[in-house]
Amino acid sequence: MERIIILDFGSQVTQLIGRRLRELNVFCEIYPYDKIPALDGSVKGVILSGSPFSVRDKKAPHPDLSAIRGHFPLLGICYGAQYLAYSGGGEVDASLAREYGRAMLRVVEKDCPLLKGVSERSQVWMSHGDSISRLPQGGVVIASTDDVANAAYRIAGESTYAVQFHPEVFHTAEGSRMLANFAFSICGCRGDWTPASFIETTLADIRARVGEDKVILGLSGGVDSTVAGVLLHRAIGSRLTCIFVNNGLLRKNEYEDVLASYKDMGLNVIGADASAEFLSALAGVTEPEKKRKIIGRLFVETFDKYAKGIEGARFLAQGTIYPDVIESSSVNGPSSTIKSHHNVGGLPKEMNLQIIEPLRMLFKDEVRRVGRALGIKDELIGRHPFPGPSLAIRILGDITEEKLSVLREADDIFIRGLRSYVLAEHPEAVKALAGADAGSVRSASDPSIEARTLYDAIWQAGVILLPVKSVGVMGDERTYESTVALRAVISTDAMTADWVHLPYDFLAEISNSIINRVRGVNRVVYDISSKPPATIEWE
Ligand code: XMP
Repeated sequence: MERIIILDFGSQVTQLIGRRLRELNVFCEIYPYDKIPALDGSVKGVILSGSPFSVRDKKAPHPDLSAIRGHFPLLGICYGAQYLAYSGGGEVDASLAREYGRAMLRVVEKDCPLLKGVSERSQVWMSHGDSISRLPQGGVVIASTDDVANAAYRIAGESTYAVQFHPEVFHTAEGSRMLANFAFSICGCRGDWTPASFIETTLADIRARVGEDKVILGLSGGVDSTVAGVLLHRAIGSRLTCIFVNNGLLRKNEYEDVLASYKDMGLNVIGADASAEFLSALAGVTEPEKKRKIIGRLFVETFDKYAKGIEGARFLAQGTIYPDVIESSSVNGPSSTIKSHHNVGGLPKEMNLQIIEPLRMLFKDEVRRVGRALGIKDELIGRHPFPGPSLAIRILGDITEEKLSVLREADDIFIRGLRSYVLAEHPEAVKALAGADAGSVRSASDPSIEARTLYDAIWQAGVILLPVKSVGVMGDERTYESTVALRAVISTDAMTADWVHLPYDFLAEISNSIINRVRGVNRVVYDISSKPPATIEWE
């Protein structure tokens, strides 16, 4: 299979280069700059990413590129462009203007393969303090901005190109065109990385690896484990056994509904109902990290107990996806723990199973596209992320059956409301969501399709039950009851998030129906905090 290698120098947007290429159906892999993989015949080209460093810093990455430059088509982006200049006899310094944000690019060499079809003037996104004041040996300017002459260059006699701006970010208007020129015209990629081709090769890989053995998989109801399950099922049929744990903290009807849809899809799934154990272990516990630890431990114990009953299993499948893989080997190292996420990994080593991760090369939107190509219902594919510790971290304070039932009802009203709010019937809401100039709203789960309902348009939503009681009046009666907070955010990766400008008429309707229909709640508030500094979940 053909691929492009992206060497990561630590820029925050390196993953975006990968995503843009994948959108062009070009397979690519991201490696830290100091772990350059073997460059075999499958490698069609190499991209050098941006970096928080200046090439002049002592600690800046200065890898040896002699096996790459001149041997493979090469594109340097931002720091990558500066490093190619610096290491090739050019000069990089702070003597010229710094550019942060939008700049206007002017094409200087119109027939340059990298800029073919790019408008004479187009907006690009810049983020640099240093500039390239002298090009490297053989360097030829191909585009400039008002402030910086060497905004893009090539090296004569080589397939080496460099751009000071970031073609991978949305604000570079014709960035995808440039990346497509690099991938197709310069590297000669065919662009045949599609969901169908992924499925075909993955099925063959799974069959070859598993042979006649058995595989166990933990299903969570989420997109990743569901797609992994269906893919494995297609490869090895009933030799896959799935375990779906009921921790007693799921949303209204979730356990029954999700279990039923797994069975409908023909999966061989065991429902492991451990609600009682979870709830009794959590009784009286109020501290968020303690809740998470208890849930993490019990999940492993429950999974282990059921898995032991499956004789002859030699593989444990997981729904790991590419961002997890990049994160764990990234230049910056795994990000520091703000909350412990216990449902990822952590299964006992003594289970002695080999790990199989069929989605480890896919970004989230690709997982969804593969899921669709496998015929999984949109209802499952488009589901919002839901945390492993479930409603336990949305009930602030201790957890009781009664609180769970209040929260389930309120959450159900909110989520059903989002699902039934059809955007086409509310043009004003679309404007507020997308900004005045946009005519449509993209789906948060797959930006390539248009969102039909509010639910599709947002990343994640839920209700939080607060440990706060307040006075109200219903009929002629004084009430003294609980408060719930609604949370709805937009995000692309959950690392940062913004609260959604939900339409007032919608908020009014939800508030009304929660207060009228959920006993024990007399006040509804809307959370208008972004991440950072808040987080998506409250605990
Ligand atoms: P925070 O609250 O950290 O959440 O902004 C970011 C995203 O992660 C989800 N989340 C979890 N997911 N296990 C999970 O699988 C967990 O323990 C967990 N805690 C938070 C959260 O719902 C959001 O999508």
